[in-house]
Amino acid sequence: MNYRKISPADLEVFAKIVGGYYVLTDEEALKKAASDETEDLEYVPEVVIKPDTAGEISRVLAYCNEHIIPVTVRGAGTGLSGGALAVRGGVVLDMGRMNRILNLDTDNFQVTTEPGVITQVLQEHVLERGLFYPPDPSSRGSCFIGGNIAENSGGPRAVKYGVVKDYVLNLEVVLANGEIIWTGANVLKNATGYNLTQLIVGSEGTLGVITKIVLRLIPAVQHNVLMLVPFPSATEACRAVNAILLAGITPSALEFMERQAILLTIEYSGNTSIPLTKDTEAHLLIELDGKEPNVLQHQAEEVMKVLSAFETGEILFADSHEQKEMLWALRRKVGEAVKNHSVYKEEDTVVPRAALPQLLATVKKIGGEYGFSSVCYGHAGDGNLHVNILKGDMSEDEWENKLPIAIRELFTEVVKLGGTLSGEHGIGLVQKGYMHTAFSDTQLRLMKAIKDVFDPNGILNPRKIFPDSL
Ligand code: LAC
Ligand code: ZN
Repeated sequence: MNYRKISPADLEVFAKIVGGYYVLTDEEALKKAASDETEDLEYVPEVVIKPDTAGEISRVLAYCNEHIIPVTVRGAGTGLSGGALAVRGGVVLDMGRMNRILNLDTDNFQVTTEPGVITQVLQEHVLERGLFYPPDPSSRGSCFIGGNIAENSGGPRAVKYGVVKDYVLNLEVVLANGEIIWTGANVLKNATGYNLTQLIVGSEGTLGVITKIVLRLIPAVQHNVLMLVPFPSATEACRAVNAILLAGITPSALEFMERQAILLTIEYSGNTSIPLTKDTEAHLLIELDGKEPNVLQHQAEEVMKVLSAFETGEILFADSHEQKEMLWALRRKVGEAVKNHSVYKEEDTVVPRAALPQLLATVKKIGGEYGFSSVCYGHAGDGNLHVNILKGDMSEDEWENKLPIAIRELFTEVVKLGGTLSGEHGIGLVQKGYMHTAFSDTQLRLMKAIKDVFDPNGILNPRKIFPDSL
């Protein structure tokens, strides 16, 4: 597609729509919009537009569609697959001003919100009325709910409560031609035609711009127990995950962290209160939650019974709110700590959870063959392992040339195990070259045909999800 460069006349049109103050072309604003949390990638857009309403977005899109100007939607910029990067320049649509929670329906357990609300702010808002929105990516203190929906994010609680898609009932979306639609209805059951709502969830800004969101909520859960369990063997830690779930216990989080993940995070955060004995190869962070403390206590005992069949170190039970917060802060900071430590490449592999030990072994085997080290952590209860490949001593040449081959091999093995490329970070820019390892030409062509129906001129988030060959 031949995209048009933005001219001063275009900027005038945008200024008429959103107000000149919200059309930014200064170096600082462009630089800020040029990267997200994906590695060290940087793509500078031509203009950043900060709309306030769906109506304004509609007019911007109608204009860009007519003039073939690319538009990339940006939330808080916490994405990990480059979804918010304006790789073909053009407009970045910054959703930060659309940060109003519009309606909390406490009778139907639903909330209607704009996309620029910080996920944690939304969670705390509904909690004040005794309601719970469970999906909580590690970045929940800064990420936007709209971005979570665009990426179909997960987070630690998915093992019990599901991911973002399980909570989205209805979406207001501005289409590439400027039309504004609702995708469904505010109902829990819906067998009415194709499911446009779920098509938009996880579509990474390639099909339309989400401007209102209706989420289902559940009653708040008052109590939880949190334990940190050290294992001398990482493989055994992975096996224990399955044993806990097979015993009929569904923790509200079942997280895996390799030794180096904890080490780097301790180093990065300066937190020295975590005991890390020499022979610990991995930890499980296990959270149980529920309404009744005595039921929880019983479940914790059941978990201990399962764990007694495994070799573990001394189990740390968090005994205060502060200690729980500290352990969660540690877990949530792993990604940031790795990023701070070395040039890296992050994969978001996911397999049927019983295959987790094989996945871990495969990562280490391929690392050994290609000479890279990796830090693995993630949502073990979902079979979702974040694999951070560190550049370490690898030469530039090896990093550029050997690594993509190693990653392709890893994904091929992941697919053989019944898994796929990304559990919760999306494909975006950085994984699109590997889509053929998970999908046939026919499957990709079906997806591309959907893209073309929604966005025939290809203005929405170009060069994402699909391999360049398509
Ligand atoms: C996490 C993010 C990286 O699990 O998904 O911390
Ligand atoms: Zn994660």
